[in-house]
Formats: sequence, C-alpha cells, structure tokens
Amino acid sequence: MHFLSQDLEDYIEHHSEKEPALLAALNKETYQKILLPRMLSGHFQGRVLSMLSKLIRPLNILEIGTYTGYSALCLCEGMQTTGSLHTIDIKEELVDFQRKHFDLSPWGTQITQHLGEATTIIPDLDVKFDLVFIDADKENYINYFEMIVPKMNQGGIILSDNVLWSGKVVQEVHKNDISTQILIEYNKLLRDDPRIETVLLPIRDGLTVSRVV
Ligand SMILES: C[S@@+](CC[C@H](N)C(=O)[O-])C[C@H]1O[C@@H](n2cnc3c(N)ncnc32)[C@H](O)[C@@H]1O
Repeated sequence: MHFLSQDLEDYIEHHSEKEPALLAALNKETYQKILLPRMLSGHFQGRVLSMLSKLIRPLNILEIGTYTGYSALCLCEGMQTTGSLHTIDIKEELVDFQRKHFDLSPWGTQITQHLGEATTIIPDLDVKFDLVFIDADKENYINYFEMIVPKMNQGGIILSDNVLWSGKVVQEVHKNDISTQILIEYNKLLRDDPRIETVLLPIRDGLTVSRVV
C-alpha cells in the first residue's frame, strides 16, 4: 500500500538517488519472470536501505526474506569490505535467480544464501550482526526479533518492513487476521522493549528502525 499520492511518490523518487543500473535490471527481470513482483523493495525504499547501510557501515548483515535479492544488494552497498551478508528465504526456486544477480554485483562472494525456514536457520548462525532487515512472514516477526536481539552488536540496527500493513494496524482487526494482530503486538513490543530504541518511519508500507542500546 502507498500512503502518498502517485504524484508525490514520483516527486520523491525523482529527488532521491537514481536506481543503480544493476538494481534496475534486477527489478525489471523480477517483474518479467517472478511471481508477486510487488514484494521487491523497489527504487525508493531500496535507496533508503542503501543510505541507512552506508550510515551504519555494518560488518555483518542479516536479511530475513531474500525474494529476488533486491534489498540484499541495497544493504550490501554500505557493508565493510571484509563484511558478510547472510540472507534467508524459504523458496528454493528463487536461489539461482538470486545468485545470478549477486554474482553480477561487487559483493557476490560476501553473500551467503540460506534456504529454509528462518526460525530454523537463525539459531544456527554463529555471527554477531550490525544490521538486520526483517522482511518475511509477518506471523513470525516477534519470533525473529527475539531470536535476533541476542545476536546483535551494541548499537546495531534492526529494520522491520511492512509494519503499517497497508494501514490495517489502525483499523478494526478481523479475528482471523493473524498477521495484523501480530504486527500490532510487534509494533508495541518495539516501542516498549528497553533493549532497543525505535522510530517507525512512514516509508512505503512502514519501516521501523530499532537501535540496540
Ligand atoms: C517481501 S519478500 C522479501 C522482499 C525482499 N526483501 C526485497 O525487498 O526485495 C518476503 C520473502 O520472504 C520469504 N519467506 C516467507 N516466509 C518465510 C519463512 N518462514 N522463512 C524464510 N523466508 C520466508 C518469501 O519466500 C519471500 O521471498
């Protein structure tokens, strides 16, 4: 969901950094060949992720929800030269597509793809992270957060996507709508948890920035 008018969205995009050619090609190929292309972060949010990563200069990055690899490559833009990005996705059919685009980037050898359920993979990662991007199934957001916090370096940043969930977080919630119920609970948790400080930014579908204190 987009909360601003198309005119304003276009204006914002035209007054932000251009989409790098590699990402524009990945964006195009995702729309041509892969189901549900709207899941990809896209030009503007991608530039936000890139900028945040460049400000943080992370050594190790974790992404939950690779999809076609767009946001992973945006996050790599700020990664230290000796750094690593671990990215997790449950869809086997995306692995070769992701790898093709990772290997076209300067960070191919620094990116590790993990295939499977994120809740199974995260506990086995023996890495301390400076930057984490949570962008997979909403029903597990609280589980992901609880698994990740002990693996964060002090001052590390956790980014959570889709936290406004098309505005459903402020509407009456249907009793079968588990994703919205979890996101409402998750947003309260991020606000109240003393281990982090949080701002919820109204970027695209809502992007929370949480800093581990
Ligand atoms: C919104 S897309 C990620 C988009 C990507 N971060 C980007 O911005 O380009 C969510 C991805 O999470 C993956 N996913 C969903 N449930 C998952 C789970 N339980 N464990 C790992 N990955 C999962 C989906 O297969 C999908 O590719």
